[in-house]
Amino acid sequence: VRTPERQVAVFGAGYIGLVTGACLAELGHRVVVRDIDPGKVALLRSGDVPIYEPDLGDMIARNKERLSFTTDLGETLDGAEIAYVCVDTPPSASGDADLSRVWSVVRSLEGAEHLRAVVMKSTVPVGTGTRVRAALDEAGLSHVGYAANPEFTAEGSAVRDFMRPDRIVIGSADDATAALVAELHEGIEGPVVVMDVRSAEMVKLASNALLATKISFINEIATLCEKTGADVEEVARAVGLDHRLGPHFLRPGIGWGGSCFPKDSEALRQLASNTGYHLQLLSAVIEVNNLQKRRAIQKLKDELGTLTGMRVALLGLTFKPGTDDMREATSTVLAGRLLAEGAEVRCWDPMARPAEVEPWTSTTRLATPELAVEGADAAIVVTEWPQLKEADWAGMAATMRRPVLFDGRNLLDPREMRGLGYTYMGVGRP
Ligand code: UGA
Repeated sequence: VRTPERQVAVFGAGYIGLVTGACLAELGHRVVVRDIDPGKVALLRSGDVPIYEPDLGDMIARNKERLSFTTDLGETLDGAEIAYVCVDTPPSASGDADLSRVWSVVRSLEGAEHLRAVVMKSTVPVGTGTRVRAALDEAGLSHVGYAANPEFTAEGSAVRDFMRPDRIVIGSADDATAALVAELHEGIEGPVVVMDVRSAEMVKLASNALLATKISFINEIATLCEKTGADVEEVARAVGLDHRLGPHFLRPGIGWGGSCFPKDSEALRQLASNTGYHLQLLSAVIEVNNLQKRRAIQKLKDELGTLTGMRVALLGLTFKPGTDDMREATSTVLAGRLLAEGAEVRCWDPMARPAEVEPWTSTTRLATPELAVEGADAAIVVTEWPQLKEADWAGMAATMRRPVLFDGRNLLDPREMRGLGYTYMGVGRP
C-alpha cells in the first residue's frame, strides 16, 4: 500500500534543501521550499536552478505541481506536517559550527498547527538534537517529534545519491517519528538504519572524516612513492581490490576541498576538543591535506627556480568536476599562494561562477585550456574536468613559454605528455 502523501516544509534552498525538496516531491509528497533570499526564490519560481547539479533541474520541472518555492513563512507552514531543516551551518570564528540559521528556523516553527516532526538534514555538532528538542518544548511544540536525518549525497551525483542511497540514517528518541521519516522515503530502495539522535549526528561527521582520511592516507603514500620510485596509481589500484578496503576515495591528488570535508573535519575536531579530547588522527589528516597544497607550490618553485614573474595557468577551479562549487577549492589556495609569490595567474574552468573567481584581481580567466596556457611558464591541472583529457596538449606545449605541467589529479598519461615535450610532474608517479 502506497503511503499517504505528506505535506513537507523544507527550510533552505541551497544544495541540500533543493535536492531534498525535489526528491521528496518526486516521491509524491507536497513540498514547499522556503528561502530567505528573494532573488533565489524568484529564480526558482521562473524555472531556473541557482546551482549546477545534474538531473536537479529536470526533477524540479517535472514535479512543479507538487513543489513550490517561497520566502513566506505562513505559506511554508500552512498545512506542513514535517519541517526539514536544510540551512547551512558554516564554521564560526571559534571553529564550532555556526547554528544561527538552524535556530532561526526552529524559532519560526512556533504556532505551526499541523506540524508532527522536525527533521534535521543540516550537518550539526553531536548534541544539537537535544538543544533543538528543548527549544521546541519551550516554543510549545512538545507534541512535535524530532529526528536527525543526515545526508550523504555528494555534489555532482546528489539526486542519484538521494534516490539510491547506501543507507538512510534516522536518529530519533521516539519510534513514531522515526517511522514517519522512514515512511517519507518510501519508494527509495536502501536500508533504513534507525538509532538515537546523537549517534545519527555522529554518523555524518564520522563518515566524512573517514572519507577524508582515506584521501589523505593515499596522498601521503603518494609522497612516499615519489621518494621511493613506486607508482601510487598502481598501489592504489591493488590496495583497493581488497574488499575490506574498497577502491573508493583512494584517488591521490592535490588535496580535498569542497563545502563539506574541510568544514566537517574542522567541526569534528572542534567537537572533540570541546569534550577535552584531541582527535589525533583527524588532525593529521587535515595537516596532510594542507601539506599537499604546499608541496604542489614547492614542486613548481623547484622546477622553475622562482615563481616571481612566472605566468602559471590553473586548469580547473571548482573543488571537483561536475559542479560549479568553488567553496574551499584547492584552486583558491593555489591562486593565493602563487599571487603572493609574485606569479601571474591565468585560469580556465567550464563551470565556476565568475563572481567567485573575480576576487583574485590579477587573475585572468580564459575561455579554453588552450588559451589559458598561452605564454605560460607552467600549467597545473587542479580539477579533473573531462574536457582537459580532450584538450590539444600537443598544440598547447608549443604555445607555452615553458612546457612545465603539474598534473595535480593524475589525469593525463605521463609518457604521452613527456613525449609531447612536457616536463611532466604528477602526484606519486615516477
Ligand atoms: C562529500 C561526501 O562524499 C558526501 O558523502 C557527503 O554527503 C558530502 O561531502 C557532504 O557532507 O555534504 P562532496 O563534498 O560533494 O561530498 O565531494 P566528494 O566527491 O566527496 O569530494 C570531496 C573532495 O575530495 C574533492 O575535492 C575531491 O577532489 C577530493 N577527492 C575525492 C580526492 O582527492 N580523492 C578521492 O579519491 C576522492
